[in-house]
Amino acid sequence: MTEAIIEIKHLKKSFGDNEVLKDIDFTVNKGEVVSIIGSSGSGKSTLLRCINLLETPTSGEIHYQGQDVLQKGYSLTKYRTHLGMVFQSFNLFNNLNVLENCITGQTTVLKRNRAEATKTAVANLEKVGMASYQKAMPAQLSGGQKQRVAIARALSMDPDVMLFDEPTSALDPEMVGEVLKTMKSLAHTGLTMVIVTHEMAFARDVSDRVIFMDQGVIAEEGTPEAIFGNPKEARTKEFLQRVLDKEE
Ligand SMILES: Nc1ncnc2c1ncn2[C@@H]1O[C@H](COP(=O)(O)OP(=O)(O)O)[C@@H](O)[C@H]1O
Ligand SMILES: [Mg+2]
Repeated sequence: MTEAIIEIKHLKKSFGDNEVLKDIDFTVNKGEVVSIIGSSGSGKSTLLRCINLLETPTSGEIHYQGQDVLQKGYSLTKYRTHLGMVFQSFNLFNNLNVLENCITGQTTVLKRNRAEATKTAVANLEKVGMASYQKAMPAQLSGGQKQRVAIARALSMDPDVMLFDEPTSALDPEMVGEVLKTMKSLAHTGLTMVIVTHEMAFARDVSDRVIFMDQGVIAEEGTPEAIFGNPKEARTKEFLQRVLDKEE
């Protein structure tokens, strides 16, 4: 049975006069892998940042497991612990080694003891193939390695949902593959994933559903087969034509 984990209703977000999200309705089901594609400036990052409330929506509702998180009295701190976020720019703590990067949130936010936090951190570093770099500092790592540590760090908080905002777009081309491979290994393990990406082959391969955003609206959504194989909307076709041409 499909069970909604995040439901977004009539979400709007403006920065001054600029309405960036225009009445977005969007549901993510438990265990689902959803990719969000679309041109630069279409509002993809803003949508992700509204989901985890790094941005406050101008209006609309965000329901997490049936509860409106914007309602007074709902614990935003608790809500945020259910969501992991991986950014384009890694955002590791540069003064902490790899292991400590994966431990610190667990001991401070989740109040886990050090032994438990260490065990969880090591298990997740193993998942991303970085267990042998525990003592390394971020500055000693390649971009791909940093991003894999960032994924392990987010996973160490045991999130229900992982949000990825173009996790490979700051990487040198030769490092994109290792990060995509890591993400692919997480897909369909029960973890819910929302991935903003411009890696079309990856989105096609790994997603249960693809969302195409254009100028602040969801212009089209469907299975990867439908979106990539048989897009209905003219603007989806144009976008895909443009990005796929570029990849050739
Ligand atoms: N913090 C902000 N303040 C003002 N404008 C913003 C801010 N964040 C995003 N925007 C604007 O919102 C629009 C959508 O941006 P964004 O969500 O980053 O798009 P995408 O991720 O699809 O490239 C852009 O016009 C951008 O300039
Ligand atoms: Mg963006």
